[in-house]
Amino acid sequence: MLSLFVYALVFGLSLLFLIRRHVLSPSAPQSTPSITTSETDEKKSLKTIMQPPRDDLDPPKHDPITLEELKQYDGSDPSKPIYVSIKGDVFDVSRKRDVYGKGCSYNLFAGKDGSRGLGKSSLKPEDAEPDYTTLPENEMKVLDDWHSFFSKRYNVVGRVSDMPEVVVQLLAQQQAHN
Ligand code: HEM
Repeated sequence: MLSLFVYALVFGLSLLFLIRRHVLSPSAPQSTPSITTSETDEKKSLKTIMQPPRDDLDPPKHDPITLEELKQYDGSDPSKPIYVSIKGDVFDVSRKRDVYGKGCSYNLFAGKDGSRGLGKSSLKPEDAEPDYTTLPENEMKVLDDWHSFFSKRYNVVGRVSDMPEVVVQLLAQQQAHN
């Protein structure tokens, strides 16, 4: 009976640690070493379950690609790369086929722009769509953290040329502010 209790305690604590580290953290970036930007945090990220940043990335490419063209890079064809778009920037995530490939945990983000779902920390396929403009401020921040996370780990291979008009307008407004 006691061993059952100890087992349940150890299992429960490990699960809690994992969830705190990854799921809760995107909405609380200060406790998310892997998707925050300070140098200390970047060093800490090596110890987390998420992959560390890379220093061997290629200069970003801005070749235009449509949302329709993006679909062929969803991991279902093993001979093609896998692409994930965030806020219209297309990342080549092929080296993480075990994560984004067909039938894998995060395949729902492959071959599309699923910005809205990333911002909402949602794995519902219907949330993985490109219009993130109605997200509240805290979820916009989560989305930006994911964009930053991917920018430090994957090559940008293109730019979605037909993001929804509302997204194009929002980006234009933000650029005008900067
Ligand atoms: C209990 C819930 C969850 C657990 C235990 C979990 C666990 C993990 C783990 C272990 C990894 C690293 C995989 C690897 O690199 O091999 C990972 C990556 C990832 N997680 Fe989660 N996760 C959870 C929920 C979520 C949710 C709700 C989202 C929605 C945005 C999400 C988005 C991602 C993404 C995009 C990656 C890939 C990052 C990369 O490219 O390296 N996860 N998760």
